Amino acid sequence: MSVAISFTAYGDADQLTTVEAEAPQPGPGEVQLRVRAAGVNPVDWKLRAGYLAAVMPLELPHVLGLEAAGTVTAVGAGVTRWSVGDEVFGRVPAAYAEYAVTAENALAAKPAELSWEQAGALHMAAETSTRALAALGLAKGETLLVHGAAGGVGAVAVQFAVAAGARVIGTASPANHDYLRELGAEPVEYGDEVFDRVRAVASEGVDAVLDTAGGYLAGSVALLGGGARVLSIVNPQEAEEAGASFTGSDPEADHTPAALAKVLELTAAGTFRLPLRAVLPLAEAARAHRLSEQGHGRGRIVLTV
Ligand SMILES: NC(=O)c1ccc[n+]([C@@H]2O[C@H](COP(=O)([O-])OP(=O)(O)OC[C@H]3O[C@@H](n4cnc5c(N)ncnc54)[C@H](OP(=O)(O)O)[C@@H]3O)[C@@H](O)[C@H]2O)c1
Repeated sequence: MSVAISFTAYGDADQLTTVEAEAPQPGPGEVQLRVRAAGVNPVDWKLRAGYLAAVMPLELPHVLGLEAAGTVTAVGAGVTRWSVGDEVFGRVPAAYAEYAVTAENALAAKPAELSWEQAGALHMAAETSTRALAALGLAKGETLLVHGAAGGVGAVAVQFAVAAGARVIGTASPANHDYLRELGAEPVEYGDEVFDRVRAVASEGVDAVLDTAGGYLAGSVALLGGGARVLSIVNPQEAEEAGASFTGSDPEADHTPAALAKVLELTAAGTFRLPLRAVLPLAEAARAHRLSEQGHGRGRIVLTV
């Protein structure tokens, strides 16, 4: 049996309840994990609230969670990469649970330098950052502006861009400015007149913009003089209206292998930072959602299982 967090109707965080069900079994090319830690992402509460029901309808009841770290407990037919007992992390659907199943290629070996909690909360930020920077075509020596740079995705995007040799300007509230400097970015306070502050810092201009906060696309297109290299991960409609682009998770264009490889490379180099905003037991998933819904803070929110 497997304890999981499930909801039967769209609504607020109180919809999340603890249930017990048969542990999912791995099919061909899949592995079963005993989950140790599962990341909590804004998309989880957007799905729970029904905000995405038109584009991503869920079969209810639904177990949330898109990423985890854990120990392999069973392997399906044809699996060659993993054996029972291996410690892994990566893209794991229905991860708010004791046991979950995922594709063998969606995982990487958990390095000793990362805690279970860090490893469990990495995939979404790393895959999104890799996909976004590829879509922007960011090159060495270019200047990237990241809106919401201290957030879960923003902080990883900053580190990947710095590692690629870019200069990075990141917006955040003042409390997160020292944190952004530690990540290698030049901080700028968001809010009114943010683009004046960006222009003051980047007198030679900005080459590309990644918006992880929402609401900055028109100003970013004006800053660059065009939308070709302005990318949102938040709002496709805002992107269309501003003449910018949007990227969403796409199984056909999944960047998981490159993303996990980059995490391993930076972790081995000792330069990767992934602070944890909150670590809560699985049973407190509703509290984790309420925290994520606040939309502010530094680092990732994780459920331990
Ligand atoms: N399309 C995709 O593939 C994809 C993938 C992952 C996530 N997302 C979306 O991307 C967004 C960010 O996700 P996340 O996990 O990084 O969230 P998060 O960890 O909650 O971070 C949100 C960040 O936004 C910043 N912020 C809040 N208000 C702001 C404002 N007015 N201006 C600028 N920054 C502001 C906060 O900074 P302070 O703490 O300094 O206030 C915070 O660090 C969410 O909407 C999520 O659903 C999309």
